[in-house]
Amino acid sequence: MKLKLGGSDAASIKADVLVVTVFEGEAEAAGEIKPTVARDLRAILSKNAFSGEEGKVRSAPAPDGVEADRILFVGLGKRGVHPLSEQARRAGGVLLGRLAEHGVTNATVVPPDSDVEAAASMAEGLFLADYSFDTHKSDDGNGKKTPPTRNVTLALSDEARTGAKAEVAFRRAVARGNHVARDLGNEPSNVLTPVAMAKRAQAIAKEHAENGITCKVLTLADIKKKKMGAFLAVAQGSELEPRFIHLTYTPSAGKGRKGKTVGVVGKGLTFDSGGISIKPGAGMQDMKFDMCGSAAVLGLFECLPDLGIRHEVHGFIAACDNMPSGGAYKPGDIITSMSGRTIEIHNTDAEGRLTLVDAIHYALDIEPDVLVDLATLTGAAAMALGQATAVFTHHDELRDALMAAAAETGERAWPLPMFEDYKSHVKSDVADVKNLGERFAGATSAALFIDAWVPDELPWAHLDIAGSAWIHSDQAYCSTGATGTGVRTLASWLRQLGD
Ligand code: BES
Ligand code: ZN
Ligand code: ZN
Repeated sequence: MKLKLGGSDAASIKADVLVVTVFEGEAEAAGEIKPTVARDLRAILSKNAFSGEEGKVRSAPAPDGVEADRILFVGLGKRGVHPLSEQARRAGGVLLGRLAEHGVTNATVVPPDSDVEAAASMAEGLFLADYSFDTHKSDDGNGKKTPPTRNVTLALSDEARTGAKAEVAFRRAVARGNHVARDLGNEPSNVLTPVAMAKRAQAIAKEHAENGITCKVLTLADIKKKKMGAFLAVAQGSELEPRFIHLTYTPSAGKGRKGKTVGVVGKGLTFDSGGISIKPGAGMQDMKFDMCGSAAVLGLFECLPDLGIRHEVHGFIAACDNMPSGGAYKPGDIITSMSGRTIEIHNTDAEGRLTLVDAIHYALDIEPDVLVDLATLTGAAAMALGQATAVFTHHDELRDALMAAAAETGERAWPLPMFEDYKSHVKSDVADVKNLGERFAGATSAALFIDAWVPDELPWAHLDIAGSAWIHSDQAYCSTGATGTGVRTLASWLRQLGD
């Protein structure tokens, strides 16, 4: 899809369709359109009894005074049920699907409420939806599509166009990052091995070498040398070698004062079978998504150079499979993490926290001002919140900033507590901690486990994305599979992060 910003008189732009959004129950075009055309559209809407319900679309012949052949009404839903930006984003996503369905190649869009933010969000919805994962489909009519390029013009007044330009560019870049994260998430574990992930990270660094991205990869021997015992314990059951990935983004000089040093850690389990504490068979295929935290980190790095961020950003990924085998780690084992802290294993399926604490300890070396980890860590987080990211942090300001960034992007997030006395849940009789909590509050005990590795004074947030990292059916601007969650929230957060 090609998107450009055009003039405000949408009706006079030649196209296959003129797209108009409609709030539910308002029976009129939501955006700015010539009064005579607006009047005709009201008549068409009432004749067609189009409700404006979210996700609904209706096509009608264009009235006089409209250069496009047809009108396409897109429902926004009731005003106020979501922020306007999210309603616009969803309308953009739905629209792209319809353009594809109807083979429309040229469309002019009137963004809702003549609002720059809404226009950029509608563009974002279009960008995000412009994605399919069909690399593994053969070209035999089995569903592989090579869509023609669709040209979409967003109609904006001169003033709005100037304001929207940079914002649309930002959203375009972030959507590209989101697509990279989704591509990685959707890849099966036989393709996206730890080694393949490291290669992908190096490819991203190479592509953006001139824009300040570098990548360091630790092999098995390096990881052993670093004594990352918790990470190694998880990896040891697999035939596949683990890799540790460290990406760095250094903003170019001349972009003003140096900002913060930010660490972003992503859980990178390329497959989680549960290990010796093996998972039930049903649904196990979804554990190819257990690297979606690291996919978000890689997706972020893909777009970072285009976001105008002044902060130095480091990405850390401990990539491995969790498999049962004669060499696998076992319940009862006591392992020593990189920090020297010892861990008693009670369940080999609680492996993410083990890989994370070594990655976090490694990350301390860069002396971060702030650290965020993203992990598909616990089924409990998904049970509690559904398709939302659970936010854990002791730092109120960081929580507010992440929640605000998430809300801005429509990536749903909600805080969960880190009750200090629940630390007793991960106490061990024979080691410093154990990797399993009690029956209840599983997402919190996982967060508190990690907390033991984080210096008290370091602002740190743990994002449990178990519920938000993938979906099982198509949504307005995201098709079934990996959602790329985290890329957009992190990008928005980094943009507003002060020095
Ligand atoms: N990768 C899983 C968490 C998960 C499960 C994410 C389902 C999304 C959907 C994680 O490694 C895991 O297995 N966690 C266990 C922890 C338990 C053994 C304490 C869980 O949540 O059941
Ligand atoms: Zn697990
Ligand atoms: Zn896992």
